Amino acid sequence: MINADIIHHAPFGVIVLDAAGGVVLANPQAEAFGLVRDGGLVPRYADDLQALAQCALEDTHPAHGSVRVRRGGQKLAIAARAQRLAADDEQVVLYLSDASDAKRMESARRDFVANVSHELKTPVGALALLSEALLEAPEDTDSVTYFGQKIHTEALRMGNMITELISLSKLQGAASLPQLAEVHVPGVIAEAIARNQIAADTAGIRLVGQGLVAGGPVLQGDRQLLITAVANLISNAVNYSPGGSSVTVRATEHASDPDLAGVPSVRIDVVDHGIGIAPKHHARVFERFFRVDKARSRSTGGTGLGLAIVKHVAANHAGRVAVSSAVGEGSTFTLILPREPQNE
Ligand SMILES: Nc1ncnc2c1ncn2[C@@H]1O[C@H](COP(=O)(O)OP(=O)(O)OP(=O)(O)O)[C@@H](O)[C@H]1O
Ligand SMILES: [Mg+2]
Repeated sequence: MINADIIHHAPFGVIVLDAAGGVVLANPQAEAFGLVRDGGLVPRYADDLQALAQCALEDTHPAHGSVRVRRGGQKLAIAARAQRLAADDEQVVLYLSDASDAKRMESARRDFVANVSHELKTPVGALALLSEALLEAPEDTDSVTYFGQKIHTEALRMGNMITELISLSKLQGAASLPQLAEVHVPGVIAEAIARNQIAADTAGIRLVGQGLVAGGPVLQGDRQLLITAVANLISNAVNYSPGGSSVTVRATEHASDPDLAGVPSVRIDVVDHGIGIAPKHHARVFERFFRVDKARSRSTGGTGLGLAIVKHVAANHAGRVAVSSAVGEGSTFTLILPREPQNE
């Protein structure tokens, strides 16, 4: 009785098959996976499961395999382990677990490593070519200066990318922020603007901070991370706007934020009048290494990590980041942050 209960309530699927591949026993979880119906294997998966059981019958060791099933529009990857019940027995038990998350994580990790390698290869390749050119004409001071400067730029770009990757991996590792302190939001904005002032001046873009008063909104958070996030948004606004335009940064308080289940929030908007982003790219811009126009980003030194960092900073503060944008008109990126992330 107790054994039956254990099998019935197991958090994984259990199916026992006889030598002919018929179902002797199946628990509700195996049915929930859609592998068993009306006391028999669902025909679509029967071949795979019986083949696995056969392997286990022919060997003393367990056999491992996986089945892809569709459940309500979702694709699941079910990991299966088949084991012969007893040496003289012709029955096989299948243990089944949902390995979809692990599979997804694994493929995200593989993509990430491939992306990083690819992105690092580009500046390294450029450095090799440029230094070769420099060594070919060591007496020609003009070309030494020219190639030397290019080498310097590429090296800085690579350095930036590595710094960003490190901060990204730290942010992803942390589920939430260890130390929260009261942060004065106008101070964060002022600092983030200051970090971008030279780039904005060079591009002929006016940075406007609105309502940056001493008594402005405060929230519980990590000041340095928030400055990084806002500075990344301003940097994009500058990079993707024409000279002569302006970028406005403002903070507003909300007593009950509909985007954060009604908790009090502070919103930081970064508004530009630049090239804008087509709707189909709105979600993708927050992915690591995604750039709408790789060629343009390369000329501005972009690596496509800026918004991924912003997204993680928002998440670590139990908030989110939103974009509204139209091509040719401009973009508004909004950080939506709860005033007290721990009370979520
Ligand atoms: N304000 C904006 N206006 C128009 N396009 C934008 C804006 N912000 C981001 N984008 C688009 O989203 C892409 C991703 O932005 P993100 O900040 O992540 O990377 P990046 O600016 O290319 O490089 P970096 O890692 O140096 O920030 C950009 O390449 C650009 O195509
Ligand atoms: Mg950027």
